[in-house]
Amino acid sequence: MKEMRHVFEYPENVAGTWNTFFQNENPIVLEVGCGTGTYTLGLAQRFPEKNFIGIDIKGARMWHGVTQAQEQGLENAAFLRTQIEKINTYFAPEEISEIWVTFPDPQPKKSKMSKRLTSNRMLDLYTQFLKKDAIVHLKTDNEMLFDFSVEVAQERNYSIDILTKDLYQESFVDDVLSIKTVFETKFLAMGIPIKYLRYRI
Ligand SMILES: C[S@@+](CC[C@H](N)C(=O)[O-])C[C@H]1O[C@@H](n2cnc3c(N)ncnc32)[C@H](O)[C@@H]1O
Repeated sequence: MKEMRHVFEYPENVAGTWNTFFQNENPIVLEVGCGTGTYTLGLAQRFPEKNFIGIDIKGARMWHGVTQAQEQGLENAAFLRTQIEKINTYFAPEEISEIWVTFPDPQPKKSKMSKRLTSNRMLDLYTQFLKKDAIVHLKTDNEMLFDFSVEVAQERNYSIDILTKDLYQESFVDDVLSIKTVFETKFLAMGIPIKYLRYRI
C-alpha cells in the first residue's frame, strides 16, 4: 500500500492539504472504522462531485477497498490508515463536511465507553475539523451502541434528522442507505435489524 497514491499510512503534516491532494475544492466526507471501505467506495461511485476518505487501523481490511478503488479508477476515494483517536491531527478546522460511522465496534464495557466512535471523546475530536452543520451518519446492528449514540447526540443538542431501529422497514430507504458493508451483510444474514441515526453537529 506504501506505493499507492491514494493510501496514507500514518502520514505527517497532511492537515489542510486534502483538497490539494484531490485536485479540487469539492466537499470531503469521512468513513471512520471503514474496514474494507464499502461506504467509501459506494459513495465515491455515486457522488463524483465529492471526495471520500476511509479511515481504519487494519491494513489488511483496507487493502480490499484500496485495490477496488484503484481498479475502478476512483480518483475521489482515498484511505487513511491510523488510529481514530488521532484523527484530529490529520484534518484542519472546517476541512470535513460529513462523517459516516459504519458498524463500529460496540465496546460494551463501561470502562471502554470513550472508545466508542460516537462517544463524547470522539465527537470532541471530530468537531475540531467538521464544518458547521456537518452531518454524522451511524449505521449499526447494536442496540446498546445505538441508544448510547442517540443519548450523546441529544445531550450535545445536535439536531437529529433521522432515527430508526429498523432501517429496511422504512419507506425512505434509498440507494445510498442500502449500501451494505461486510459487517452489515453478516448481521442481516443473522436476521438482526439495522439501526440508522443521522444528526447535524
Ligand atoms: C466491526 S468493523 C466494521 C468495518 C466496516 N465498517 C464494516 O461495516 O464492514 C469495525 C472497524 O473499525 C476499526 N476500528 C475500531 N476502532 C478503531 C480505532 N480506534 N481506530 C481505527 N480503526 C478502528 C476496526 O479496525 C474495524 O475494521
